[in-house]
This record gives sequence, structure tokens and C-alpha cells, in this order.
Amino acid sequence: MTAKRQILVTNALPYANGPIHMGHLLGYIQADIWVRAMRSAGHDVIYVCADDAHGTAIMLRAEANGISPEEQIKNVQVEHERDFAGFNVAFDYYDSTHSDTNRKRSEEIYLANEKAGNISIRPVTQLFDPQKQMFLSDRFIKGTCPTCKTDDQYGDACEKCGTTYNATDLLNPRSTLSGATPTLKESDHYFFNLPNFTKFLQTWTRDEGRLPTSIANKLDEWFEAGLSDWDISRDKPYFGFKIPNTQDKYFYVWVDAPIGYMASFENYIKAHRPDITFEDYWKKDSDKEVYHFIGKDIVYFHALFWPAMLHGANYRTPTSLFVNGFLTVNGEKMSKSRGTFIKAETYLKHLNPEYLRYYFASKLSDKVEDSDLNLDDFVLKVNSDLVGKVVNIASRCAKFINTQFNNKLSDTCTESDLVNSFIAKGDEIIKYYENREFSTAIREIMALADIANQYIDEKKPWALAKENPNSTDVQDICSVGLNLFHKIMIYLSPVLPTLAKESKAFLNVESLDFHARFDVLTHSIHEFIPLMQRVDPKKVQAMVDDSKEDLQTAQTNQQSNKKTSKKESKPVETNNEFIGIDDFAKVQMKVAKVLECNKVEGADKLLQFTLDVGEEKTRNVFSGIAKFYTPEELQGKTVICVTNLAPRKMKFGISEGMILSAEKDGQLTVVLLPDSMVAGATLA
Ligand code: 2FM
Ligand code: ZN
Repeated sequence: MTAKRQILVTNALPYANGPIHMGHLLGYIQADIWVRAMRSAGHDVIYVCADDAHGTAIMLRAEANGISPEEQIKNVQVEHERDFAGFNVAFDYYDSTHSDTNRKRSEEIYLANEKAGNISIRPVTQLFDPQKQMFLSDRFIKGTCPTCKTDDQYGDACEKCGTTYNATDLLNPRSTLSGATPTLKESDHYFFNLPNFTKFLQTWTRDEGRLPTSIANKLDEWFEAGLSDWDISRDKPYFGFKIPNTQDKYFYVWVDAPIGYMASFENYIKAHRPDITFEDYWKKDSDKEVYHFIGKDIVYFHALFWPAMLHGANYRTPTSLFVNGFLTVNGEKMSKSRGTFIKAETYLKHLNPEYLRYYFASKLSDKVEDSDLNLDDFVLKVNSDLVGKVVNIASRCAKFINTQFNNKLSDTCTESDLVNSFIAKGDEIIKYYENREFSTAIREIMALADIANQYIDEKKPWALAKENPNSTDVQDICSVGLNLFHKIMIYLSPVLPTLAKESKAFLNVESLDFHARFDVLTHSIHEFIPLMQRVDPKKVQAMVDDSKEDLQTAQTNQQSNKKTSKKESKPVETNNEFIGIDDFAKVQMKVAKVLECNKVEGADKLLQFTLDVGEEKTRNVFSGIAKFYTPEELQGKTVICVTNLAPRKMKFGISEGMILSAEKDGQLTVVLLPDSMVAGATLA
């Protein structure tokens, strides 16, 4: 028995402005399996997470939803916690970074760094939206590329020619939030002096086991390029924590987000673990282990800024970062139009979460590799492995024990070499879990399941039972079979907590923790009930279809008070001339501001619009109304845009919506709204 380790595990904190989807779940399921495995091996593991609640995006989302940021983050947290619970991702504590504890820790860590000389202040000139009265980050600015002169390019790089530039270099820049022309404005910014930590970080990132080697190599490139100061302040309006001793400067969200790991842990132990202190885990020379599971896109923050901030404030740094790759679905980036942008909530409406946990486990390794959720393979693998192999062992053996032997297992199992060989395999499998080599663990476990099925095939208890139903041979064979099932379920239990729980009840055992593998079962079991249904490919298809539908109703459902559920209001008429309220509800119409309206070269009928529909990106829309309007007549007007039409590829570009107009006798009149209406408001 190895010594009991004390471990703190975290997952990356999801932003409080959007739903959990399959891509998120890869990392959460990975961490949850690891936590369960480490606990099963006897270690003391604390597993925490939180919603990442601050920043401009969340502030603007709340504004678009017509609610306060506090309400926004509260609503989303409820959804996130529900989704994690639905997938059996069982955090000990789920917090929000918008907590008093986090505010205090963030201030403390900042002040300690300030005292240590790691903070400096200097003026920065940035583009400012005079209408919204806020500074604009690159993604809220669009304009004409200074190199190739393509219009409608973001403030950091041109999608057409690939040039990267500063937002201030754009020609004809405009704010995507209001359409206003930004002005240049100077303000003081606070910087974290990352270069002070170059030496420390160069050693830290190369410490044994700290980071995957591929990541450490990547970081070397950054060291070679030289680290820069990190701008950690944002001006108001900003939803976040105020920087101490300032009037109106806020911590950039990435400052207090990782500190949220600490604060969530702190709130957890305050409420549930009087036996440990914050310092036990976070003081400089702590002997406890701290692991962050993160995606490869946020390595920079976790491998440079975060250890530097901690070191500068005299705290310990994480033991290791466990980095996972991205998820593709059917070999491609998740796509809303293909229905492969699958939300956790949508999945759970159709499928058993254990299927996904198993599929991900069969794919995950300790490497920073992307994983693919191939939906056909998913059906095949789950059905063949879990239903066809694992559960099949129990169902083949249980009925004889239940019916012929009064549920009693045979005493002879203790002598079975086969049972003992399954027990002996445990050390290796546990090691694979510990090293996060889940796919190898699964392969080994499935090899055991094959052996167990072969054993039953060879012994043919059903044939023996036909000759003599009460033959003790039948009892012996089936008891060995159920012992093999027992070991397999012990090894699978970190992946399949629900199946494990039901198997525990059926096998009538106290525990399926790893140490229980040494128990050879000779007692009475309970009646077998089918433990898992096959994946129905029709349900997978329904989930994909539903995800396509989700696109159409996404924003309306997400925050706005959707009063009718699909089931509640069936249309009374099926006559083609009527559509049901459900169908109507699918059409999403939003208030839109015409930021730009232009003629289209070579298309007499078309006008091209750049619309602000209250989203991060503006929309490009073509409308066949050139005969009735000059661009000037519509510039700056407030119109109605159907925002959930599938994008249409046209000769002149992609149209991402439709502007509503009224038609009478061939004459089109655009429906204009009062200018006081805000872009993004939903029409219902
Ligand atoms: O990238 C993201 O989704 C961030 N919300 C992750 C934060 S992880 C931690 F640092 F808080
Ligand atoms: Zn360009």
C-alpha cells in the first residue's frame, strides 16, 4: 500500500456567458476520472472548480440580455452545475470567481507583488468608443485592412491577407458595439513585470513532471522571443474586481481567474474540511500536490503568468499542469450547422452520460493530443465494449446463480487461477490511471473482458445446466464469471460511476474501490437487472438534429424568458397555411443597427449591409432592395434582422441574416424601428 497522498485538483473555470458543450466536457470528464481513480487508490483528493465570472464579454452579454452581470453569472452557474452533475463530474465545491474570498486573495496577491516590485504603471493609448464610453479591445474594432484594403477586418489581423497589425492601423475603424468611429484615448495601465521572472520560469517549466515536454518546448520559443510585461488592468466599465488603491481600474479577468482556484478551495475547506488549512496546501514549502487540468489554448496563462504571480507573492506553484488537446466531432471542428456543436444539456436529453465518459476514456492519454468524437465509432464502441462484453458477462452468469442456486456464489472461486490473474492485473491498470493513460487502461480492461467471455464460451454453463440444472459445475463456472465481472467493474468504476453503483448493488458488495479487487466473492448476490441499454443510433441522430435546432433557438432559449416549452404548445391545425407557435418561435428576430450600407458591384438589385445585432461580431447581410433605397437612406437606421437563418453563400459573399421589409404590389419597404431601440434586443 502506497502512502496516502493529499491532492488538490482543479479544472479550467468555464466562462459565465455560455453553455457547457462536448469540447468542454473532454477536460472535465478527464479530471473527474482521474480524481475518482486516485480516491479509489486511497488518496485524499479535493476537487474544485468555479465559474469564471468577470470580463467585458460577460458584461456585454448581460447587457444584451437586459440583466445585471450578477444575475447573468448566477443564471449561468445554475446551468453549469446542472450539466456537470448530469455527467457525474462531481466537484467537491463549485464556486464563482465573483466571491469575497476571491476578491481578498486577488488583492493580497496583487499587493504582495506590488511590494516586491513586480508592478509598474504607464500610460497606454487605445481606441475608445465615444458612444459606449469604453475602451475597445481588438475584437470590438473593425475596419479596412491597411495592407490589402479589404473591409470588415478585426482589429488584430486581416483574414484576407493575413497581415497582423495594431487596431490603430486600421483604415476607417469603427466600433462593432455602436458603429461609432473610435477615438484615441490615453489612460494609465498597470503591468505585471513578467520579465522579472524569466529565470525562475525557465527552470520551473523544465522541472520534472511539471509540464508535458511538448509544451515545455513551446515555452522555450517564448523565452527566446523574450517575455513582456503583462497588462493586468482594465478601465471602467468593466465587470470585475477593483485594483486596490485605484479609483476606477479593474483586474483583467485573467488575474483573478486562476486565483479562483485558491478561493474555491478556501471556501470548500472553510465549509467542509476543518482538518486542513489554506496554508497547508498553498504555503511555499507545502508537501501537498496541486494539479490543474487545462486545455492547450490556455497554457500561456497557466505556465507563465500564474506561477509567476504565485511566486511573486510567496506562494507555492502547481505541482503539474495536465494539458488536454481539442475535441473534434466526426473529424471536424464542432459545427452548429452540421449539428455537431453539441451542448451538454442536449446530449443529456438523448443519451446516457456514461457512454460519453467511456468513449472519452478510451481516447484520452497523457499526451497533448486532440481527440475525435466520431459518432458512428461512438455507437459501435459503446455497444461492443460495454454492452456486448462487460455487461454481457454478468447477464450470462447471473441467471443461473439467481434461479438455480438461490443467489449463492460458489466457495471454490478462491482457487481460480483466472480470478487471481484478474486481481494481479490491478497494479498495472491502477498505474495507467495514475499516469492518465486512460486509453491504455481501457484497452487492458477490455482484454480482460474478452478473456472472461472466452472462458464462459468454452465452459458453456447453459449446456451443462440443460443436462443437470443443479450441477455444482454450473455454479462454479458462473461464480468465476461473476468474480471476473466484479474485478472488471472495479477497474472501470472511475469511468462509469453509475454502472459501478448499480453493479455494487447487484453484486451485494460494500465497495468497488481498487483495494476491493482482492476480495473473492463467495456470498449471496442480488437479482440481476439489465445494467445498460445499447446506444440507439436513432437517438444519436436525434441529438444531432436537436443541436441543429439549437442553433435556431440558441439565444432565445438561453437567457430570455422562454415561456413555452416545445411540448406545451402543439399547433392546433396541421393545415399548411398555418404554422405552429413552436415553428414561429424558431424564427429569431433582433433589433439591428445599420453600421454600413453599400451598393454591390455587379448586382443591381443588392445592397450590402454591415449590421450590429448586439453580438460580438457584426453581420454581413445582402438584401435585394437596391431598387427602392439608396445606401445613404438606410445608413445608421434601426432595422429588424432575422438572425438564425442558415448563412447563405452568394456570389458576392456570405449573407448572415435577412432584413425584414414589407411588400405590396412589388414595392418593398424596409421595416424601420425607432432609433432608441438597442441593437440585439430580441423581437417576440
Ligand atoms: O479559457 C477559459 O475558458 C477560461 N475561462 C479559463 C480560466 S481557467 C483559470 F485560470 F481560471
Ligand atoms: Zn489585408
